[in-house]
Amino acid sequence: MGVGVSLHPLAKAVAGEGGLGIISSACIDRLVTKRTGKKVSIYEAIKEEISLAKIKNGFVGINIMGALARDFTESVKGAIDAGADAIISGAGLPLTLPAIHPPKDTALIPIVSSARALDIICKKWEKLGYRPDAVVLEGPLAGGHLGFRIDQVDLECNKLENLLPPVKDMAMKFGDFPVIVAGGIYTHGDIVAYLAKGADGVQMGTRFLATTESSATQAYKEAVVRAKEEDIVVAHRPGSPCGLPFRVIKQSPMYVSSLSRRRQPKCDKGYVLMKDADGKYTVCPAKEDNKDYFCICNGLLSSSGYNSNEEEPLYTVGTNASRIDKILSVKVLMHELSGLGY
Ligand SMILES: Cc1cc2nc3c(=O)[nH]c(=O)nc-3n(C[C@H](O)[C@H](O)[C@H](O)COP(=O)(O)O)c2cc1C
Repeated sequence: MGVGVSLHPLAKAVAGEGGLGIISSACIDRLVTKRTGKKVSIYEAIKEEISLAKIKNGFVGINIMGALARDFTESVKGAIDAGADAIISGAGLPLTLPAIHPPKDTALIPIVSSARALDIICKKWEKLGYRPDAVVLEGPLAGGHLGFRIDQVDLECNKLENLLPPVKDMAMKFGDFPVIVAGGIYTHGDIVAYLAKGADGVQMGTRFLATTESSATQAYKEAVVRAKEEDIVVAHRPGSPCGLPFRVIKQSPMYVSSLSRRRQPKCDKGYVLMKDADGKYTVCPAKEDNKDYFCICNGLLSSSGYNSNEEEPLYTVGTNASRIDKILSVKVLMHELSGLGY
């Protein structure tokens, strides 16, 4: 969970309980620079964070979003050189991922929201001599960016349970690699039900957002605890400069001010940059247009306490955030999810 929610404290705690702990690479250079007081590059920050999260006999991976195009290559190199157990990559199709750096023992795991996307990735990766080590299938109930057009989010055919069979078939076709489902999985019962339907594992975000070990601010965690079903909306216009629908708590200060057009455009972080006509990374739609886009880097950084004094936070959550009524430790949550109770 980016930005700055899933850092080494959360990933390490999850790994310690037998899960695969995932760090978010988004803006991690700034977060580590601030924490250590030493200016680090994205490559160095990723190496540092992964080494802090690693434990004996535990597994730690990293999420690297394709939408952060400027930093993608260096992030992948840093993760592999740090010995990450997995790179999980979505927010765009990670078509070149296996070609960036020899992955050694790092599993390469794309995120898709359709069998078609998986087909495209597998065909491209086949030409690079690689097959996904697993795939995350993320449905429309997830937090963060959604892999669906806004008019497709609520379609019956896009429900996670309906997406799973064709994605499972596609994974079979290209070598029977594991399919990990994500988006709206909340209880031990949900996990058991998805495993029975053919999933090989689950990825969970929202429930871990409101844990003691998550690096979300206290205000963010409390907003999750307070959120009711009707408070959780899919933001589109105004929405993410990445162009994908983005689920938020509608009371998030940055979302409220974006709706009322009170915000001045203010891109001073530049993570979501796209190339200009000269091929240089200079363009972010939110730099000039605060009618259609909110300043996602600043808003999410504020939600993890980086710049909370200067910037309004933006709270992203999955649909099930409305069911969370208290902040738990990872230990208690993992026991509950394992069906061991507590
Ligand atoms: C706060 C938050 C931040 C997220 N950030 C990212 C991200 O940076 N990259 C990404 O690929 N997915 C991101 N996601 C999606 C999660 O990785 C996960 O797949 C999804 O939330 C699963 O659904 P759940 O929240 O219902 O468990 C985020 C989700 C949340 C709740």
